[in-house]
Amino acid sequence: MRQAGMLVERMKNGEAAPEKHFNPYLYEALEHQGILMTGSEWAQHAANPFPDTNQPLLVEVGCYMGKNVLEFAQNNPNWNVLGIDITYKRTVKAARKIKSLGMTNAKILISDARQALAELPPGSLKGLCVFFPDPWPKKKQKKNRLLQEPFLKLLAEKLDPKDGFFWFKTDSEDYFQCVKELTTQLKWGESAPDVLPQGLEPLPYTTVFEALFMGKNLPIYRRVFTPPQG
Ligand SMILES: C[S@@+](CC[C@H](N)C(=O)[O-])C[C@H]1O[C@@H](n2cnc3c(N)ncnc32)[C@H](O)[C@@H]1O
Repeated sequence: MRQAGMLVERMKNGEAAPEKHFNPYLYEALEHQGILMTGSEWAQHAANPFPDTNQPLLVEVGCYMGKNVLEFAQNNPNWNVLGIDITYKRTVKAARKIKSLGMTNAKILISDARQALAELPPGSLKGLCVFFPDPWPKKKQKKNRLLQEPFLKLLAEKLDPKDGFFWFKTDSEDYFQCVKELTTQLKWGESAPDVLPQGLEPLPYTTVFEALFMGKNLPIYRRVFTPPQG
């Protein structure tokens, strides 16, 4: 995959916009300085990109156009919330909403989640949400799934060992079973299906894709996992 956010990164360093692949969101990405971060900005500030660095950090991977980042940040003002996605359009639309609401406890990062997570100090993350990740349903596509052993091992290092959580929702039964098998193997704990993470204002936090699947009466699989102890 081409590095997400690479073009805006180059433009911030003074390079001209590429003539090919014209994308209006690329220009707008430059206007959201301080709200929409690139991978290298995150690498410099991963420990404290928010004004109140004492607040717990909640990360949503694959935040789409920011619906849940906004809901989390508005309803939990004592948390810092970071949404990560890989496209200019989605991250710009999310950043736009944060800017128009003048929110200071929400930010957006354009990056592959694996690279972003690697930059965090160990034990510094309170919660990570992955809602309806691309399911890659065919057998030969499964290697593209985000939630595989390397990602879960990295996440276990970054989560607060005491009360950190990983909240996962999917419509794919196979993806869900694979993650459950892996977390069991790696000795993660898990909640009952409908339990929400402790410490967050208890709201449904229904995502855009979740609403689509619910509208079709399709089953949704969800769990809150806790990192392995010791
Ligand atoms: C199926 S959509 C789900 C969007 C949203 N979570 C929801 O439930 O409505 C998956 C999202 O994950 C993003 N995505 C895919 N791979 C990613 C990666 N490696 N890092 C961060 N985001 C990723 C996609 O761009 C897309 O916005």
